[in-house]
Amino acid sequence: MTRPLTIAIDGPAAAGKGTLAKRVAARYRLPYLDTGLLYRAVGRQILAGGVDPDDPQAAARVARGLDVADLDDPTLRGHEAGELASRIAVHAPVREALVAFQRGFAARPEGAVLDGRDIGTVICPHARVKIFVTASAEVRARRRTDELVAHGRRDVEYGRILAEVKARDERDSGRDVAPLKPADDAHLLDTSQLDIDAAFRAACDVVDRVLAAQ
Ligand code: DC
Repeated sequence: MTRPLTIAIDGPAAAGKGTLAKRVAARYRLPYLDTGLLYRAVGRQILAGGVDPDDPQAAARVARGLDVADLDDPTLRGHEAGELASRIAVHAPVREALVAFQRGFAARPEGAVLDGRDIGTVICPHARVKIFVTASAEVRARRRTDELVAHGRRDVEYGRILAEVKARDERDSGRDVAPLKPADDAHLLDTSQLDIDAAFRAACDVVDRVLAAQ
């Protein structure tokens, strides 16, 4: 039997991981999990339930009760949901509550693609392929600004988005548990100078090289 093809894609906010991971999953016919959605859904339920997001135990109770069936809500992808997700993701008991579901997803017989912050380091340390997607904060802020403008938002300001991107990087990288950082054996993919097609080709090259070598 061939080994499952587990692909971990990590990186900072707005690096284009999601788009890339989805295309990689389609290319290799693998199921895909956007793990950020789990943290976003927990954050939303915390807000809806009037729970204190800075109370680790209360937040973890919400995380343990998370119904993963409703991750499809498009409002989860918004900026506010992301900020709240980043805030509750610093709590170790919240992260622990979400580990089993992520590992279960990753253990499918054919393999899976998961994207997040700690997939290659904590969730799937034995993933066959690990890719750490980065781009400079300026490039990520520019892409996010253009995306929001393309969606009809008029009140967007590059300077403010850049500050937000940097603040999120700091929180995600600076936390004590499972901070954002490349695994030692991750392939770094800097997309600062690449469009999505070029980034996709580069990611597929990494996967194909790993497959050919094993
Ligand atoms: O990938 P995203 O922007 O949807 O993630 C939102 C937040 O959730 C991110 O800022 C930190 C947290 N997160 C995490 O801590 N670990 C993950 N594997 C995925 C997301």
